[in-house]
Amino acid sequence: MSTRRSTPLRVAVLASGRGSNLQAVIDAIETGQVHAKIAAVISNKNDALALERARKHGIPDLFVNPKPFSGRPDGREAYDRALLETLTKYDVELVLLAGYMKIVTPILVKAYANRMMNIHPSLLPSFPGLDAQKKAIEWGCKLAGCTVHFVTEGVDEGPIILQAAVPILDGDTPETLADRILQEEHKIYPRAVQLFAEGRLRVEGRRVIVSGGDMPAAGAIISPV
Ligand code: GAR
Repeated sequence: MSTRRSTPLRVAVLASGRGSNLQAVIDAIETGQVHAKIAAVISNKNDALALERARKHGIPDLFVNPKPFSGRPDGREAYDRALLETLTKYDVELVLLAGYMKIVTPILVKAYANRMMNIHPSLLPSFPGLDAQKKAIEWGCKLAGCTVHFVTEGVDEGPIILQAAVPILDGDTPETLADRILQEEHKIYPRAVQLFAEGRLRVEGRRVIVSGGDMPAAGAIISPV
């Protein structure tokens, strides 16, 4: 059964770049499809477009400079401790990694166990890591897609919440395929946030059980015929 919260879920988005997934979540909140509030957008890149998108919507935009931490043996952990302080300060309940190009350490993963999501542009467990779309084309796959999953210590390895599939067409380049996948990302990420806000996600081992209501769509599987 879904649970209606009286207060919106407090979300933070960690992003390093363009921030189109952040924008999709902002739009879904503003149109009432997602019952959440973005408490802060945090970036490791000062010039991330994601920060500008946040500012336009009156959301606190925070650049946490990785420079002072680099070169230290515990630099990555110290950086994540600084992030954790910020997340705590903003009362964040759910963290979204959205094009966040930095590996999160156990400091954050443990503090936000089953409360931190990532979106990845492949049908995991195929093609974790960088250049997923290019690898899917080169492998000769007929389907590609995207995955929203909870974050665990292994990169792109956590329990899968939602996936959407798209065809790989003859003549696709990594860019054309990435665009087609991105359209699906923009649907499933807000949807996963809403399922979380409704208290409908339960993790059992590797499986995420979605309770109540209609089954979330696995995404459009479109025949190229
Ligand atoms: C998205 O395609 C996302 O899936 C990918 O980066 C892009 C960010 O776009 N993430 C990863 O590859 C993480 N492994 P956006 O900044 O426009 O949301």
